[in-house]
Amino acid sequence: MIGIIGAMEEEITNLKSHMEVFDVQTIAGMSFFKGAVKGTELVLVRSGIGKVNAGICTQILASVFNVDTVINTGIAGSLNAAIDIGDIVVSTSLVQYDVDARKFGYKLGEIPRMNIIEFPADKELTDKTESVFAALDLGVKLYKGMIATGDKFVSEDSLKAEIVNNFHAYCVEMEGAAIAQAAMLNNMKCVVIRAISDKADNSANVDYRTFEAKAIENMSKISLALVDSLK
Ligand code: ADE
Repeated sequence: MIGIIGAMEEEITNLKSHMEVFDVQTIAGMSFFKGAVKGTELVLVRSGIGKVNAGICTQILASVFNVDTVINTGIAGSLNAAIDIGDIVVSTSLVQYDVDARKFGYKLGEIPRMNIIEFPADKELTDKTESVFAALDLGVKLYKGMIATGDKFVSEDSLKAEIVNNFHAYCVEMEGAAIAQAAMLNNMKCVVIRAISDKADNSANVDYRTFEAKAIENMSKISLALVDSLK
């Protein structure tokens, strides 16, 4: 079973409109829409924002809905001057830039006693995303790389610089690595696909509001095409 997670209502509304919904179940305040897109069954859910919501949501997908493939779609702030607003980033790996137990000898981003910094994304899902994207001709670029996650909306140049210097991530958002960690713990395949809504700097607030809708529309097209390709 495929699970699709969007953090915000705006991120799942468009997808839901393309889905035939059979059933809705609410758990932990999250509505899980069971249904199908062009004959492929899936569960679509709005997790809410941030790592805790994302982790809980992924666990429910695994435990209650037997999801083995999780796709996280949404928007993100760019960490690379070449990656512009509207462009797409698909994860090769995910890191929690705000995990810091260096006092105990761990590396920045390393989850204590788990011996891991970077959670891998499923290579086949990443590559499939790249090929469905190429066929869609959306007029934007796609980049494959590391995505950084933390419980902060990044809109300060100083924080952006810190994340860029510490991790060579392509974009920053607030759920992906938590989903990847929960997916790894449950042996689920996982991919995070994000459209850039802002540059994660002092202009982020304004850009975010302006470009959010277009970014979400493109994301939804890619997610639908990816689901179709997994038949
Ligand atoms: N999602 C979209 N833009 C973001 C940003 N600048 N920081 C964190 N999450 C985001």
